[in-house]
Amino acid sequence: MTGAWRDPATVVITGASGGIGAALALAYAQPGRRLALTGRNEARLESVASACRATGATVTTACLDVRDAAAVRKFLTIVDADGALDLVIANAGVSSGVGLAGQCEDWAAARLTLDVNLNGTLNTVQPAVDLLRARRHGGQIAVIGSLAAWRGLPSCPAYSASKAAIEAYAEGLRGMLAPEGIAVTVVSPGYVTSAMSDRLHGFKPFLVPADRAAGVIRRGLAANRPRIAFPLPLAFGTRLLTLLPGWLAERVLPLFAFRVRPQGDDPPP
Ligand SMILES: NC(=O)c1ccc[n+]([C@@H]2O[C@H](COP(=O)([O-])OP(=O)(O)OC[C@H]3O[C@@H](n4cnc5c(N)ncnc54)[C@H](OP(=O)(O)O)[C@@H]3O)[C@@H](O)[C@H]2O)c1
Repeated sequence: MTGAWRDPATVVITGASGGIGAALALAYAQPGRRLALTGRNEARLESVASACRATGATVTTACLDVRDAAAVRKFLTIVDADGALDLVIANAGVSSGVGLAGQCEDWAAARLTLDVNLNGTLNTVQPAVDLLRARRHGGQIAVIGSLAAWRGLPSCPAYSASKAAIEAYAEGLRGMLAPEGIAVTVVSPGYVTSAMSDRLHGFKPFLVPADRAAGVIRRGLAANRPRIAFPLPLAFGTRLLTLLPGWLAERVLPLFAFRVRPQGDDPPP
């Protein structure tokens, strides 16, 4: 089992058409490894898949919306039929928050954020658990949360809530599934270069390049760490913030406020 954590033969990554997901796909791509990648934008997904194939990896892709539970389950079942899923990374996500002019978060965008980030993650994790349990193979699941989960941020309340929900869910799952040899890891990144972080306008302390973030995540998963939080100074600062009395935290938070350029529901062309 620990061998599979260090060197998974089959890796599934949702939201692999850009940003952290694409960087993870490239970080795992190597001869003899099978990658199953999803996204919505076909052109970008195929471009990531081609780059991974060029390293010698075998790559399967599916254009699907993680909100479509049946489509995600079908894809995972097809991938599993060709060999056990060793590692499933629930990465696909969206963000919303205070608008560029400082206006209140758009309610529809807030609901979309919760739907994609929470339900989309459940739609990925639950069939993965079913397939792993049926095979009695062990295996590993990673959920991409955020440091924004650790304290509700005034700049992005729905995003914080969505990530807090999936982080708590994954933490609970880790204990529940441990007796069956299935590992679950919560990943809590700070700011990482991507289309999502490009839409954040404001101070982005300790911004990490996506390829470096993928390396940190990969090493943490190989060690089966319960939580991978990075970069350390921001993780430490965020943890400290949660320990401050409320009145003091409320004075500190505006220093780190950002605004969010809206993201359309439809995948970009
Ligand atoms: N970047 C950061 O600073 C940061 C920090 C903490 C956590 N995170 C988390 O890291 C994950 C990846 O974010 P990122 O920064 O790499 O953002 P990104 O560059 O915007 O990539 C998001 C990925 O998710 C996919 N996606 C979005 N909505 C989807 C849907 N409804 N169905 C299927 N796929 C969907 C996108 O696919 P298409 O483009 O093809 O639609 C894309 O591949 C997210 O969960 C995010 O919350 C990011």
